[in-house]
Amino acid sequence: MLKEAVTKARERSVAAVVDSIRTLEGAGFPVRRPFPTAQLMQVDPFLLLDHLGPVRWGPGEGIGAPDHPHRGFETVTYLLSGEMEHKDSAGHSGRLRAGDVQWMTAGAGVVHSELPTAEFQRTGGVMHGFQIWVNLPARDKMIRPRYQDIPAARIPEATSPDGKAKVRVIAGNAMGRSAVIDTRTPIVYLHYALRPSGEAMPEVPSDYNALVYVIGGEVLVGEGGGAVREGQMARLGEGESVRLAVAADAKEPADLLLLAGAPLNEPVARYGPFVMNTEKEIQQAIRDYQSGRMGEIDF
Ligand code: FE2
Repeated sequence: MLKEAVTKARERSVAAVVDSIRTLEGAGFPVRRPFPTAQLMQVDPFLLLDHLGPVRWGPGEGIGAPDHPHRGFETVTYLLSGEMEHKDSAGHSGRLRAGDVQWMTAGAGVVHSELPTAEFQRTGGVMHGFQIWVNLPARDKMIRPRYQDIPAARIPEATSPDGKAKVRVIAGNAMGRSAVIDTRTPIVYLHYALRPSGEAMPEVPSDYNALVYVIGGEVLVGEGGGAVREGQMARLGEGESVRLAVAADAKEPADLLLLAGAPLNEPVARYGPFVMNTEKEIQQAIRDYQSGRMGEIDF
C-alpha cells in the first residue's frame, strides 16, 4: 500500500510544437529560428534560439557577424562543425571548434565579433551550430561582461547502458554527469544523440520552462510520444522529467537539444541586440552604444 502511495515523478508532455522560420543573421548566414517570432517572443528565460546551418562555404565564402553590441543578457554559442573566432571590447578572444561552447555574459555591454577563422576561410567547409540568448534578471543586467570558453574535451558526456542514447552536458545534469559551465541564470542545456529504439528520460526541475529542439531526424517527445521533426521545437508542459525516444523502426538516428530554465517573470523590453526591462533602459543602451561607452575591439 505504502509503495503505491508514493507519487510517481510526473512526465512532461508536449504543450505545443513550433516550426522554425528561416532567416539570415549577421552579415548574411542562414539560420532556422523557432523564436523569437511574431507568434512567440521568448520561452522565459530564453530570448532566442538560432540553429546556424548546416551550410557549406567555399574557400573565402564564410560569413559571420562583424562588430556589434549586446547588453542585458548572455549569448551561448555551441558549434557542431566549422571554426569561429570571437573578439570583444572587454579584451576577450577565443576560437571555437566543433564541440566547443562559448558562454558570453554581455551584462552592462560589450561590442563583439563572431567570424569564421582565417583557417576556415582558407579551406572552406561546413559551418553548423547554435546560439541561444539567456536573459539576465534585472539585478544582473548591468554586471561586468564575462567570457567563458569551454573546449569540447571538457564538456561532460555520458552514454546509456544499451549504447543507444548519448548526452553532452553543456549546462545542468544528466546521466549522473554535471556541467562545468558556471551559468548566471540556472539552466539545463543538453545535447542528445539517439539511435533507433534509443531512449532517455532526463529530469527537469518542475519550476523550469522547458523545450526540445530537434536538430535532425524525428524524436518522440513526452508522455504519449508525439513526433517532433528536424527544425521543430516542442514546448513542454509541467512535470519533473521528459521522455525522449526514437522509434525502433526509424530509418535514421536523431539529435536534439533540451533547454530548460527558471523563468525570470520580469518585463522584457528588447530592441535588436539589447534586452532590458523598460523602454527607457533600451533608449539608454542605444545612447551608450552610440557614444562609445560599450567600447570597441582594439586588438
Ligand atoms: Fe553577437
